[in-house]
Amino acid sequence: MHTEGKENRGEYLKELDLASLPGVGPATKQKLIETGIKTVLDLASRGTGEVSDVFGGDTGKASELINKARNRLIELGLLPKDFMTARQLLEIRNKIARITVGSKNLDRLLGGGIETGAITEFYGEFGSGKTQICHTLAVTVQLPKEKEGLEAGAIYIDTENTFRPERIAEIADDRGLDPTSVLDNIVVARAYNSAHQELIIRELGDYLGTGGYKLVVLDSAVAHYRAEYLGRGTLAERQQRLNMLMHQLLRLAETYNVAVVITNQVMAAPDFYFGDPTRATGGHVVAHTVTYRIYLRKAGKNRIARMVDSPYLPEMETVFLINEKGIDDPEETHRRR
Ligand code: GTP
Ligand code: MG
Repeated sequence: MHTEGKENRGEYLKELDLASLPGVGPATKQKLIETGIKTVLDLASRGTGEVSDVFGGDTGKASELINKARNRLIELGLLPKDFMTARQLLEIRNKIARITVGSKNLDRLLGGGIETGAITEFYGEFGSGKTQICHTLAVTVQLPKEKEGLEAGAIYIDTENTFRPERIAEIADDRGLDPTSVLDNIVVARAYNSAHQELIIRELGDYLGTGGYKLVVLDSAVAHYRAEYLGRGTLAERQQRLNMLMHQLLRLAETYNVAVVITNQVMAAPDFYFGDPTRATGGHVVAHTVTYRIYLRKAGKNRIARMVDSPYLPEMETVFLINEKGIDDPEETHRRR
């Protein structure tokens, strides 16, 4: 397992050394490392604000250096070029890998599963299945490619203390995988508050750089921010931090070509007479950064998922359920196949 990523890494490791970038001497390299930026991949996935500390707050120098890192990744074929033909873009899109969610219905809704290089958001009320989807994905990403997995590990950031290894073992067992090795391939981080959550996300490069992980779960993305910023007066600051978080996640997804899955709660909208009575928390900042948004709701024993705001997938609905396999299709879908 994971050997493919590691072999690739060996080939371009020298080019990913910070000191290999023009203008980065030993002192700058040392300062970058002290900031937690250890490789060119790390650097390319950071925002200007974080890197500018190394240059005494000079954001111009910081963005210049980040661009050098991004250009290096473009040369190595790890990031797409700024300008390219639509056909080249299609070729890149064809390389996007997908992870099954465990239900054919849900996979179809997603255009074949969760995408690498993108952020997918599941939002809905309590008990709608967000955490169960995250658990299932942490297992299915480990499935062999012919079974719609990526033979890679998962990183699970748990902000609500709802991650259950026992549940992972059950799902793995039911899907014919060895529970012990599946558990070994999931790295769990419990985030105690929003600042801790941000710190964990900054450290993700250490794991993603190995190439052995293809899924990052953040369950949930917004809950800590919601709890910590109660007064309306602090809303602007909250949205600014959420904005940074979301862009950081998007850069990680693109730079390391991993799937990022976040969950989000709903809040009762004040104007619930108009349209849907519930909408996701986090406002426009979250809505505009995620690539795919899926709204979940309960329908008796079943769950209904709806694709919302997808760049190219149709807005449609589908049915799934939660059982010992994690996420599964309803009986009638199984029978039809
Ligand atoms: P919040 O985090 O509270 O907002 O909810 P959520 O959307 O994350 O809900 P979650 O994914 O935890 O789904 C909870 C539902 O999944 C429960 O109501 C159960 O119906 C089902 N469920 C949870 N654990 C299990 C399990 O071990 N086995 C089975 N069969 N169902 C489970
Ligand atoms: Mg949950």
